[in-house]
Amino acid sequence: MKFLVTAGPTREPLDPVRYLTNRSSGRMGYALAGAARHEGHEVILISGPTVLDVPPGVDFIPVETAQQMYEAVRDMLPGVDVAVLCAAVADYRPVVCAEQKMKKGAERMVLELEKTPDILGSMRDVFGFRGVLVGFAAETQNVLAYAREKLQRKQCDMVVANDVSRSDIGFDSRENEVLLVFPNREEALPKDTKEHIALHIVEHAANLLPRV
Ligand code: C5P
Repeated sequence: MKFLVTAGPTREPLDPVRYLTNRSSGRMGYALAGAARHEGHEVILISGPTVLDVPPGVDFIPVETAQQMYEAVRDMLPGVDVAVLCAAVADYRPVVCAEQKMKKGAERMVLELEKTPDILGSMRDVFGFRGVLVGFAAETQNVLAYAREKLQRKQCDMVVANDVSRSDIGFDSRENEVLLVFPNREEALPKDTKEHIALHIVEHAANLLPRV
């Protein structure tokens, strides 16, 4: 099968030396790409900036902004069986990126932001993707309710939900504890390394593909 995985944060520039980003390390996405490859699948990894090594045998497409990630996913989608969108894409970006470094001046400054394109939300209706679609839901409260709502609204086959209010798992951590949410059931995976969690997610996702 052919897997497409998005990973890492995005960087939304303010000027040539500054950007808005988030705490995603990319570890979960890189573990997913490595696990899918390990299971014998063809893998495209589209990633924002991280310090991680690209897993061997994986086709790697580095991007910086949400817009670049959107275009890379759209362009690489033909032929993909399973798409796992794990990247922590910025929801908003500065409306303008200054051409020169902004100088310090007034005591206060207001930044105007606009929405970035919703990659997961574009998969079905804009890109026409018919394969297995896996989204992630990093929440700080009501984890199951938000994940279930996201599963329906974004037309996913599975949402991997985790509680990012806990410091021992999730962002920046080597371990994770997730809830797999399917249209008609849930399955909790106990706390484990991101590599082990990734293998479970890949197996579940591959099993969702209808056999011909
Ligand atoms: O709505 P929220 O940002 O919490 O959804 C998270 C999920 O949506 C993740 O799977 C993430 O990769 C994806 N996402 C995306 N494009 C965005 C924002 C989030 O693909 N602009």
